[in-house]
Amino acid sequence: MSSKGAILIIDDEQEIRESLEDLLQMEGYEADSAATAEEGLRKLETRPYGLVLLDVNLPDRSGLEVLKAIKRDGSDAAVIMITAYDSSQTAFQASKEGADSYVTKPWDNEKLLLEVRNLLDRSRLRAENAQLRRALKRYGLPNIVGKSEAIQKVLDLITQVAPSRATVLITGESGTGKELVAKTIHASSPRADRPFVPVNTGSMPVDLLESTLFGHVKGAFTSAIATKRGLFEVADQGTIFFDEIGTIGLETQAKLLRVIQEREFMRLGGTETIKVDVRILAATNADLRKLVQEGRFREDLYYRLNVISLTLPPLRERREDIPYLLEHFLEKYGRENKREGLRFSPEALKLLMDYHWPGNVRELENAVERAVVLASGPVLGPELLPEQISQNGSRAVTASLEDMSGRSLFEITEAYERRVILDALARSNWSQTEAAERLKIPLSTLNQKIKRLRINAKRQR
Ligand SMILES: Nc1ncnc2c1ncn2[C@@H]1O[C@H](COP(=O)(O)OP(=O)(O)OP(=O)(O)O)[C@@H](O)[C@H]1O
Ligand SMILES: [Mg+2]
Repeated sequence: MSSKGAILIIDDEQEIRESLEDLLQMEGYEADSAATAEEGLRKLETRPYGLVLLDVNLPDRSGLEVLKAIKRDGSDAAVIMITAYDSSQTAFQASKEGADSYVTKPWDNEKLLLEVRNLLDRSRLRAENAQLRRALKRYGLPNIVGKSEAIQKVLDLITQVAPSRATVLITGESGTGKELVAKTIHASSPRADRPFVPVNTGSMPVDLLESTLFGHVKGAFTSAIATKRGLFEVADQGTIFFDEIGTIGLETQAKLLRVIQEREFMRLGGTETIKVDVRILAATNADLRKLVQEGRFREDLYYRLNVISLTLPPLRERREDIPYLLEHFLEKYGRENKREGLRFSPEALKLLMDYHWPGNVRELENAVERAVVLASGPVLGPELLPEQISQNGSRAVTASLEDMSGRSLFEITEAYERRVILDALARSNWSQTEAAERLKIPLSTLNQKIKRLRINAKRQR
């Protein structure tokens, strides 16, 4: 990571902030500062700090409250409290709330620096150990594969945001790894031992969605025969992951906004306010900003969710990852199927490298698994690849009409139609309903076309 460590100074006096920043920067630390409690807490959400120098008296909130908030969020940062006069009462209070140390103005620079170095070492060790233990326990090894700049950036960002409670909005096409990223953030956060609760909001009707999220009390509606806890309660101290957040209706959005702001809610039909401590992660393959413009997504909720945004580019825009992913999945499915040491033939490899992967990593994973299962020798040839890849299928949708010379208009149109449909199916993870929606045709029409064009529309495996 960075220099010798990152330090945040929260103090309302400009002079103090500046002299501390200078002192620390001269010693090779990265120093940031904030003039209010609000600003300080916001900064703490955006990146991990090893140490916080915190004034006891702040204009908007007391330093002790800020201290409590920092410790409650499970941050690994050490905290040194700063006060204008020596008050054993405040010192006692501060150490009770978990402050690591305490200085009075004016301070002795040498002593302060010594303290800073000790505490930073300690908090760095604490953070590294905890992270390592968690990563090893959950996954054994890092599991987000890829060497592209895009993936490296994603990995860096995950390490940065994991320790905080910051909300992260993950965007990317279907199959690019959004859920994998969400799980990894959770698994490398201080919440790793608590639940990770994915919510698929996709097609649930409003009532069901709300009772799923918030729970209900007995008698809230006819089928509510007993009080039920919602997923927010299940996820307490852990992480809740909203998949396809763009599909949530406006009504539920308003409730969600309230939970994010207040960290509290009521069960359906209930009167008791329930407080929870959950981290919220969300994913979407829709353009939320556009939904905001169209009035289908609340702007305030959008900003609340988008504190940190993380974008997974489609696989075709980071082709250098393809060989690593192939190797990773060959190994994984080789092991699962007890067929180790398999490899793709050069022709198969070329097809895999050239294909445009509308279904992204998920499609690639499926293709490898299928090839492994069907293999009869150690070398996997093009015949083991799904049709849309082995025939270099949908890439040709955009290819020139040259290949079509000598064929009738009818044949050309059919060939195109076939490729477009295969492409839509692959993008929809072989769900015909979704593919029909994508193509804006009725499902029955799609079915007819699949039959007429003799398309193998089953997920090819
Ligand atoms: N970089 C990667 N390294 C290893 N495996 C990956 C990577 N990206 C995605 N995968 C794997 O690909 C599959 C699809 O990923 P995931 O479910 O996270 O995608 P998604 O973006 O949530 O898709 P959807 O929008 O369709 O829900 C999973 O099995 C996941 O483990
Ligand atoms: Mg997903």
